[in-house]
Amino acid sequence: MPTASPAATPAVPAPLVARRSQRLAGRVRVPGDKSISHRALLIGLLAVGATDIEGLLEGEDVLATARACALLGAAVERLAPGRWRVRGVGVGSLLAPDAVLDFGNSGTGVRLAMGVVAGHPIEAVFDGDQSLRRRPMRRVLEPLARMGAAIIDEAEGGQLPLRLRGAEDAIPIVFESSVPSAQVKSAVLLCGLAAPGETTVIEAEATRDHTERMLAYFGAELGITPHGEHGRRITLKGRPELVPRPIGVPADPSSSAFPLIAALVVPDSDLILEDVLANPLRTGLLVTLKEMGANIEEIDRREQGGEPVVDLRVRASNLRGVEVPTARAPSMIDEYPVLAVAAAFAEGETRMRGLSELRVKESDRLAAIAAGLAANGVEHEVAGDDLIVRGGSGRVRGGGTVMTHMDHRIAMAFLVMGLASDKPVAVDDTSFIATSFPGFAELMRGLGADLS
Ligand code: S3P
Repeated sequence: MPTASPAATPAVPAPLVARRSQRLAGRVRVPGDKSISHRALLIGLLAVGATDIEGLLEGEDVLATARACALLGAAVERLAPGRWRVRGVGVGSLLAPDAVLDFGNSGTGVRLAMGVVAGHPIEAVFDGDQSLRRRPMRRVLEPLARMGAAIIDEAEGGQLPLRLRGAEDAIPIVFESSVPSAQVKSAVLLCGLAAPGETTVIEAEATRDHTERMLAYFGAELGITPHGEHGRRITLKGRPELVPRPIGVPADPSSSAFPLIAALVVPDSDLILEDVLANPLRTGLLVTLKEMGANIEEIDRREQGGEPVVDLRVRASNLRGVEVPTARAPSMIDEYPVLAVAAAFAEGETRMRGLSELRVKESDRLAAIAAGLAANGVEHEVAGDDLIVRGGSGRVRGGGTVMTHMDHRIAMAFLVMGLASDKPVAVDDTSFIATSFPGFAELMRGLGADLS
């Protein structure tokens, strides 16, 4: 296990400036998918025996989950860079942690782990950094309480830190989620593993299904049927014996989005992104960019450990504005900051509809994006839950300093802007980039980006 505390808030902010760059070119593989990495550790904890993971994202968010898994009873070993082994204890056999489970900046880690703990008769204290302490937890705590978990003490408003006592005997429920959230769905399903009988989650909009895929891959019985126009009904049979299987973590499409859009907006660029996760519930950005006229070629689509992956060839493109429908939001929820940057370089107006969930991410992303666009001379408007960006047909003034508000994706998105804007773009703090994309600046420099 790494010795440094992954959850500690970096004391010293690390500003960075992006300058107009020559063409970006090369072939890269961005780090492993964050969503799959969290699940590999937590589901490994719930399986009996050794789960071998290749390509685990060694970002701070995932390292916090690794530490939590160890506190809950797993033996977690780093065998080599990206190669990890989790010896799980099995559903029903978790240990009560003897320290606070500190998830740092990670909403996914904390919410999924709450689901895991809620199904076991143990108590745990959950905490995180200042950003995570502001984020809503009732969305998971309410269904978990119905399943038998008790919140013993909680700060005002259902926020961290809080102490949770898991159920003596978890109760299977039928849960209809009021927010389109894979984190909420996954927390209920992970708790449902410990319940007898069937736990059902109904979602009006299908969200990323890595939990369902990985549980099925480990031998759990799940039934998934369509629900309404865009939704799903997921039923899990409780108390399965989860059998460890090797996991290869594909490259994170949400991290790939940064070099990808950089290559689209920096003239003459030509880039290959390898091994990118192509799960259809994660590809909303690719669909949108293709509608905008992006030159993105998919090469060699294949399966890897129950998930589709693809290599992407991206060439600089003249983009045009489009309308992005609300129904597409769950499949690209983390990509709006960098899509707003692409829209700033496009010709015409891009309207991104239905972005209310952006207000409760690592920062209020809708506000942070709008402020970043304003600082760099991009015409835009927030209308209710929609963001409208009026593009500059290849030209963005730049010259602003962007406040990142402890949000890795705000930092990376505006650094991408600075690689093609007329004047440099500065971000106040890049230290949080390490939560999801360690080595971002080095990887971008290797492609030709001017970041210093
Ligand atoms: C995630 C789900 C999304 C996403 C987050 C990762 C996951 O959050 O924003 O970065 O791994 O389940 P919500 O499900 O809350 O929208």
